[in-house]
Amino acid sequence: IDELLSAGVTGKRVFVRADLNVPLDGTTITDDGRIRAVLPTVKALADAGARVVVASHLGRPKGAPDPAFSLKPAAVRLGELLGTEVAFATDTVGDSARSTVDGLADGQVAVIENLRFNAGETAKDDAERGAFADRLAALADVYVSDGFGAVHRKHASVHDLPARLPHYAGYLIATEVGVLKKLTEDVKRPYVVVLGGAKVSDKLAVIDQLLGKADRLLIGGGMAYTFLKAKGYEVGRSLLQEDQIPAVTEYLERAEKQGVELVLPVDAVVSPKFPDLKAKAPTHPTVVDADAIPADQEGLDIGPKTRELYASKIADAETVFWNGPMGVFEHPDYAEGTRAVAQALIDSNAFTVVGGGDSAAAVRTLGFDENAFGHISTGGGASLEYLEGKTLPGLAALED
Ligand code: 3PG
Repeated sequence: IDELLSAGVTGKRVFVRADLNVPLDGTTITDDGRIRAVLPTVKALADAGARVVVASHLGRPKGAPDPAFSLKPAAVRLGELLGTEVAFATDTVGDSARSTVDGLADGQVAVIENLRFNAGETAKDDAERGAFADRLAALADVYVSDGFGAVHRKHASVHDLPARLPHYAGYLIATEVGVLKKLTEDVKRPYVVVLGGAKVSDKLAVIDQLLGKADRLLIGGGMAYTFLKAKGYEVGRSLLQEDQIPAVTEYLERAEKQGVELVLPVDAVVSPKFPDLKAKAPTHPTVVDADAIPADQEGLDIGPKTRELYASKIADAETVFWNGPMGVFEHPDYAEGTRAVAQALIDSNAFTVVGGGDSAAAVRTLGFDENAFGHISTGGGASLEYLEGKTLPGLAALED
């Protein structure tokens, strides 16, 4: 982007593909981290006199307009953060988008409606995606990629549009890729990876890669119960992906052979039923050892012994990557595991990277200062796929 800025952008229509896919409660944004992350790029372009067209997806609408997934709240928040008025187009490539972009003066910013209101954005068919990319290209002179959270998607605005316009990487992309490179090339050891979240199936590929790279892998969240089951423990009503047990068993064996410490919870916070995350009423959970989860109980967080164990495994690390909460942190009865891991990262002297929408939102909603971490990534799937060593369509498109 510095190259673009020094060449001059005054009067140019610059399409910024951002990731404004923020969590919403109705129309209230509950975590605006992704909007703040794109500000340096949008500000720099606007200050240089560009006519900035910001575009993003939000949620997973079905290829047609759906008011529940409107980008309007994100546009309003972007305007508040920029301290200027931000225009909003009520469609993506239609009359509203064209007239909104035509009406921009130099240095002004517009947001167009959710890219996924158009089936062409996510189409598998190259021609269908290409046709939509053509319509997006008509709105701009230059393309700037700054939606790191979406670079793993082969979508029209991520993969096909850059081929149609002069294209540049924004500041957020440069920062994210710089940080993730540090984790893949010449990582400082001990390198500790903490993985949580609900489904082990989402994490298999990254575990596969990390078994050859990390020194310790600490497992928490709903996915831990499939590991415990694979070890022969009963997990009661805890989340379990029975079909993943063979893969998980293989990873446990490989870790042992390769000398990687794969650490599992030794205790769990359990309850007979999943808590109400809205009312947040006390649920009076109990703590049990990981090999003694009663048949009628569900594990919803790592227990106090595991918190201490994981903190000790993080304490002497030089590098830590953390993806996925340790429990149902949205309810105060099950937030302590996630809080303990966040605190352990802060207390260590390691270079710490928090990756993933959920863990990033967790550290902010639990009240941690985000500056206390080395880097909080805006990408969930994107950062995991980068670490898996996959080619990310949105990054490859910029290198062309
Ligand atoms: C994310 O939340 O990880 C990104 O915004 C990508 O969203 P998606 O998984 O719906 O493509």
